[in-house]
Amino acid sequence: MTIAANALYILAFILFIVGLSGLTGPSTAVRGNKLAGAGMIIAFVGTILKLVGKQLAHDGDYMISWVLIVCGLLVGTAIAVPLARMTKMTEMPQLVAMFNGLGGGTVGLIALTETMEYRGFRPDLIAEEAGVAGTSTILTATVIVGSVLAAIIGSISFWGSLVAFGKLQGIIPGRPLGLGKAQQVVNVGLLLLSIAFAIVLAFQVGNFGNVWWMLGIIIAASLLGLMVVLPIGGADMPVVISMLNAMTGLSAAAAGLAINNTAMIVAGMLVGASGSILTNLMAKAMNRSALNIVAGGFGGGGSGGAAAGNAEHGPVKSTSAADAAIQMAYANEVIVVPGYGMAVAQAQHAVKEMAALLAEKGVPVKYAIHPVAGRMPGHMNVLLAEAGIDYDAMKEMDEINGEFSRCDVALVIGANDVTNPAAKSDPNSPIYGMPVLNVADARSVIVSKRSMSSGYAGIDNSLFYLPQTNMLFGDAKDSVDEIVEELKSM
Ligand code: TAP
Repeated sequence: MTIAANALYILAFILFIVGLSGLTGPSTAVRGNKLAGAGMIIAFVGTILKLVGKQLAHDGDYMISWVLIVCGLLVGTAIAVPLARMTKMTEMPQLVAMFNGLGGGTVGLIALTETMEYRGFRPDLIAEEAGVAGTSTILTATVIVGSVLAAIIGSISFWGSLVAFGKLQGIIPGRPLGLGKAQQVVNVGLLLLSIAFAIVLAFQVGNFGNVWWMLGIIIAASLLGLMVVLPIGGADMPVVISMLNAMTGLSAAAAGLAINNTAMIVAGMLVGASGSILTNLMAKAMNRSALNIVAGGFGGGGSGGAAAGNAEHGPVKSTSAADAAIQMAYANEVIVVPGYGMAVAQAQHAVKEMAALLAEKGVPVKYAIHPVAGRMPGHMNVLLAEAGIDYDAMKEMDEINGEFSRCDVALVIGANDVTNPAAKSDPNSPIYGMPVLNVADARSVIVSKRSMSSGYAGIDNSLFYLPQTNMLFGDAKDSVDEIVEELKSM
């Protein structure tokens, strides 16, 4: 049974890795997700086989354990499947936060039950469980270190994710809620307190009182999770969730060490590594460090919205849907630049219809996707794919940036920061250094948005004042619908 279980674990790891590599592109992402899910089911079957094997070998009574695991799977599936189906695409970040937080909380509880199970980490009980004769210092240290790390990281992740969920769902105000200058001192104090509890616990091996030290670790780390995420603005939450996701993975790997479960170690490390890479990529694309995001910064007010009229730039020119349709119908190529506003207006289906009409007139349409356009990773890809737009037409920033100078019309739909030329030219701009789309290089630029309001970074956009730019004011869906009507009548 153990050999069969280990073979299933290895199969599961292969599926996790193949599944993760599928997530690197929109056309393979769905298949990748399914493969990783299949891997999880196989790992689950492997664990049940292990327990049944131990039961058959009369190595303890594991009946309750595997019945509990099956019940947990059924209850979890019954809640998660309808919840995921009912959740709108725009609410995905908070669903991910909730699922991620539950993972962290589970890991914290595993750490607590481990402390109780070994009645204060008794080396004889730990060795007996592992089938080792006498006692083993390395084994005992592994269980203690694994449990302590799982408790600290899992608790931070659980409470941090709950706050992230609350902020995105509007249950907790999205603005930064902190203690001002005292915040960092309190945070460092809580971290040191949980580490101090962990050290005391490690030196009290074999003492049942250890459970209280473990509870102390969990309480201090839980407060730390709350204190770290409450001062971060709502709009920074996607990056924070990605960071917490990486932490949940690491805590699961630590718990895997504590309970000697290879599947948890491998799956946890994969989640930890991929989550850390994603966090880093997102932070880089926003020209900020992950540390800077945790310390708080711009983006506190959710969708931004500071009035952005700027006397120094002079007036802007506005255009109509009819003029925009004529310009595009006679263009050599149109590059659509979608942003957060397209998601708000749900304009993606209208955009697809517009592109189809342009294609009929012999005008190719491409989509320029900035890595942090919108408010979650892959936001634009998901929306455009939902409307049935061909993956091949969606171009990543590096691929399309050289093409703007050759195209007649760039149509910006609800995008702002990701098109701001100040990121390249103004060293005083808060987004200076952030890679942006070269929209300003296009011969003609049409910007669809409702007003002159700023985007997430809360800053003015010099693109709107360029001689080749025309503003098409109004809700993005209404504006694109009007363009569609004009194109139909041409
Ligand atoms: P933003 O810079 O946030 O600009 C969005 C624009 O959409 C706003 O200026 C707004 O102007 C317009 N808008 C809103 N509702 C609209 C509607 N119904 N119709 C038409 N326009 C509408 O968006 P972006 O260019 O996509 O940049 C994303 C920003 O979010 C970046 O600064 C990025 O760093 C940040 N961020 C991204 C992520 C991820 S992972 N994607 C995570 C956190 C933060 P009006 O109000 O005038 O209409």
